[in-house]
Amino acid sequence: MTSPDLPAELKAALDGKLRGFSRSDAAGRAASISRTYRDGGGSGAIRSEADALAYALARMPATYAAVMASLNALVKIRPDFAPKTLLDVGAGPGTATWAAAEAFPSLQDFTLLDANDALRTLALGLVTDSFRLRDVSYERGEARATLKKADPSDLVVASYMIGEISDAEQRALAELMWEKTRDTLLVVEPGTPAGYTRIIALRERLIAVGAHVAAPCPHDGKCPLQAPDWCHFTQRLQRSRAHKQVKGAELPFEDERFSYVALTRAPAAQRLSRVLAQPAVTKVEITAKLCTPEGLAVTKVPRRAKAEYAAARRWRWGDAVMEES
Ligand SMILES: C[S@@+](CC[C@H](N)C(=O)[O-])C[C@H]1O[C@@H](n2cnc3c(N)ncnc32)[C@H](O)[C@@H]1O
Repeated sequence: MTSPDLPAELKAALDGKLRGFSRSDAAGRAASISRTYRDGGGSGAIRSEADALAYALARMPATYAAVMASLNALVKIRPDFAPKTLLDVGAGPGTATWAAAEAFPSLQDFTLLDANDALRTLALGLVTDSFRLRDVSYERGEARATLKKADPSDLVVASYMIGEISDAEQRALAELMWEKTRDTLLVVEPGTPAGYTRIIALRERLIAVGAHVAAPCPHDGKCPLQAPDWCHFTQRLQRSRAHKQVKGAELPFEDERFSYVALTRAPAAQRLSRVLAQPAVTKVEITAKLCTPEGLAVTKVPRRAKAEYAAARRWRWGDAVMEES
């Protein structure tokens, strides 16, 4: 499992950029950018170098943690996956690229695509001292136009991106991303009902053209969850001093809620059940909500089944587990 916290090299690069910037100015910009997001706006509010840095300080640790949690889930299902090439669609400050580089030492070639100039400039500034990432290629432009020109990649990632485009655009982009996927496409969204709905729509659309789900679902069938329930996970991450200052936060950590899907060309060799909420542990039994290859199940593991109970005590929300273990 790769750590959900930003790698030291990226933290140092962000700290370096912050030198000479006022933290209270960054906090004001970050607050105004998140207000825009809350009101349904997108990254268009990020226009200057200072905006881009404020956004990265406030949000990059959390989106990085969500992408890393999704990549860790993918690696658990496909431990032999060793992609060489990456396409990061709507890359922004390069969050998913940094996470994929950490998760997959095999990656050699990184292509980032984004329409936002300020975020692209920041991303390129952050990788200058990185041995693995300093030669990334970062194309500026609309996602579909730049993606059409890109070479297919082993791994394609769109993190916290599809929520910024219209439904019709999401449908067209999903198909184009899949066309450019040699092996795996990972899409990550905020863990809200709306983020989940976008993930489910993309999942269904791409299964219809031959994709298989590697994670989180242990099946390629219809999602068994019924509204108001929705499939989402949570990842805890540590907050640095700068992160706390920019967010005006006290707690040394935060929990990022996210929804995701990892789609592959070949079906997964193993189908493990997914833990959909933190299991309830009592002295008598452990109760866990699972998505299994056969559908939704509320599994109870009695304490008297010693080995199974001991194994189930280690289950965490988001884990892939063998039900009978
Ligand atoms: C919320 S940010 C996420 C950035 C990064 N992927 C992350 O996880 O931190 C969304 C990104 O998508 C980009 N984006 C949105 N719509 C786009 C489009 N139509 N074409 C290209 N990029 C787009 C924005 O410029 C922004 O960088």
